[in-house]
Amino acid sequence: MDELPVVLKKDRKPRASVSAEVFGAHNRREDYKPRVIPKSEEQKARIQKRMEQAFMFSGLDSKETEIVVMAFEEKKFKAGDDVIIQGGDGDFFYVVDEGQLDCTKQYKGKPKPTYLKTYEPGESFGELALLYNAPRAASIKSKTDSTCFALDRACFNNIVKEAACKKRQRYESFLQSLSLFDKIDPYYATKIADGLNFMEVKAGDKIINNGDNREFFFFVEKGCVEEFLPDGKLRFTHGAGDYFGEEAFLNKTNQSIDCVAKVSLISL
Ligand code: CMP
Repeated sequence: MDELPVVLKKDRKPRASVSAEVFGAHNRREDYKPRVIPKSEEQKARIQKRMEQAFMFSGLDSKETEIVVMAFEEKKFKAGDDVIIQGGDGDFFYVVDEGQLDCTKQYKGKPKPTYLKTYEPGESFGELALLYNAPRAASIKSKTDSTCFALDRACFNNIVKEAACKKRQRYESFLQSLSLFDKIDPYYATKIADGLNFMEVKAGDKIINNGDNREFFFFVEKGCVEEFLPDGKLRFTHGAGDYFGEEAFLNKTNQSIDCVAKVSLISL
């Protein structure tokens, strides 16, 4: 087989900056009195389970988690009920526990709202108006009878927002620097940022082993990663802003490469 060239992928743009308004002053934690909604142990356990599935809460410590669990309110909706109306004020952030809810958006110049997605148990919505202090960006209607856990704006702003904003800021600006995400709707870029997990690896650590399943692919934030073919030949050297492991991920096959950190690096 021909020797494969060592390629440093050069497909990135300069980093874009993140809007400062997202990180507006909301540091009122001292005078904030969280609301406490009495609930059974069974309800607490259900809320906690749903919180583990929502990225928004991934940065909370145990004390903050407890405050948030107690502030959540269980809300039941009938099929056809409006939960959020586009253009309205943001009062609650919702996590779905049971049932399905449809999200639609009225775009300018379109005669009818566009269907966007159906929310299922474990998914959450209604974060944008609270994070960005903006009107509701879409409408949500209960498709079936549903149960959601609703978190009030004050608790969201005082406890949850900071951790979520930090994660978004870090990953959004990184993703914006990649040409892979050039044409993506900013809403979905944000969703991808939310879904990223940080992973720190030392020089020499193996990140992907040949045969690994295809659950993740990786972006290099700092440092450098070498990618080897099964016969041990160097295929690529990935630098900051590059991604790897995407072939198996997209083709739904297992990995056929080994990837090893060359210099100490941080990958996402
Ligand atoms: P928010 O604007 O607070 O209320 C409506 C919610 O719909 C919004 O937060 C998001 O959680 C959700 N949503 C889903 N898809 C979109 C989209 N493409 N644009 C805007 N909001 C969306």
